[in-house]
Amino acid sequence: MSRNKTPLRYPGGKQKLTPFIREIILSNGLDGGHYIEPYAGGAGVAMELLVSGDVEHVHLNDSSYHIYCFWSAILNFTEEFCNKISSCVLNIEEWLVQREILRNPENHTLIEVGFATFYLNRTNRSGVLGGGVIGGLSQNGKWKLDARFSKRDLIERIEVIASLKHAVSLYNKDAEIFFSNDVKSLPEKSLIYIDPPYFNKSNRLYLNHYKPGDHERIAGVVQEMERVKWIVSYDAVDEIMKYYSNRRSFVYDLQYNASRAYKGKEVFIFSDGVVVPRNSAISYINFALKRESKNLHFGVQ
Ligand SMILES: C[S@@+](CC[C@H](N)C(=O)[O-])C[C@H]1O[C@@H](n2cnc3c(N)ncnc32)[C@H](O)[C@@H]1O
Repeated sequence: MSRNKTPLRYPGGKQKLTPFIREIILSNGLDGGHYIEPYAGGAGVAMELLVSGDVEHVHLNDSSYHIYCFWSAILNFTEEFCNKISSCVLNIEEWLVQREILRNPENHTLIEVGFATFYLNRTNRSGVLGGGVIGGLSQNGKWKLDARFSKRDLIERIEVIASLKHAVSLYNKDAEIFFSNDVKSLPEKSLIYIDPPYFNKSNRLYLNHYKPGDHERIAGVVQEMERVKWIVSYDAVDEIMKYYSNRRSFVYDLQYNASRAYKGKEVFIFSDGVVVPRNSAISYINFALKRESKNLHFGVQ
């Protein structure tokens, strides 16, 4: 059984930071509560926390229709989706068919779009939906397109998640609308983990329409949320540090698989009400990143 609980690969996926986020949940008495990702993507942390029973309910929002279709299909049409995994052919002809579905979602059902999203996520380099296939179109690379497509393991992950369907709420909204409309009905015992598209370097990786002004506006909306506790992660560029300069934060180095050349600093920012488990934060982040980070700069500001 694989360590990851999410069936999606996500460049910069944060599931390796789950122990740190779990520590925040425990330190703030939020265990057994609700956990929310307004920019869910592969929802790696949410799935770990749900499957382990640390939280009772997760809310996943993503403005990408493709990502929404995937989550909705595995939760609501589990058997059909898993049958599609069992019977799918892993070759370039099928990859082209799935890419066509991904490019023209309006001509297809939710299950078809959800499956195409999954198929390309598992067969493309770094899981980037708009990127190239593993091994190239001629399939003469070291790795072939099936390198990340262990059918049995992926079906198992999906079945585990679907068995917890009653504990998952799905949304397909712009995060700003989610913040304004949906956060107010969350129970007080909630933690919102906000992992927006990066300020720099993100266009290639994700659907992202955010310009610098949008990040600034989102920072304003996020910092107005006082009733529930939240944490934010970002690339630690000067602009982001400025937008959140009145909040506590810490910066660490992180290297992504999706673009090996990019080694950047990341930052975690905390709402004022969050108790930050200081010493464990250092050791967990250190532990989670030790293979990827040579220099860890830590300092709660
Ligand atoms: C940095 S990724 C999140 C990765 C996630 N934390 C994980 O571990 O897999 C950002 C996600 O935000 C979504 N997104 C981009 N713009 C958005 C918006 N305005 N509102 C909601 N979601 C958005 C993208 O589709 C992408 O899935």
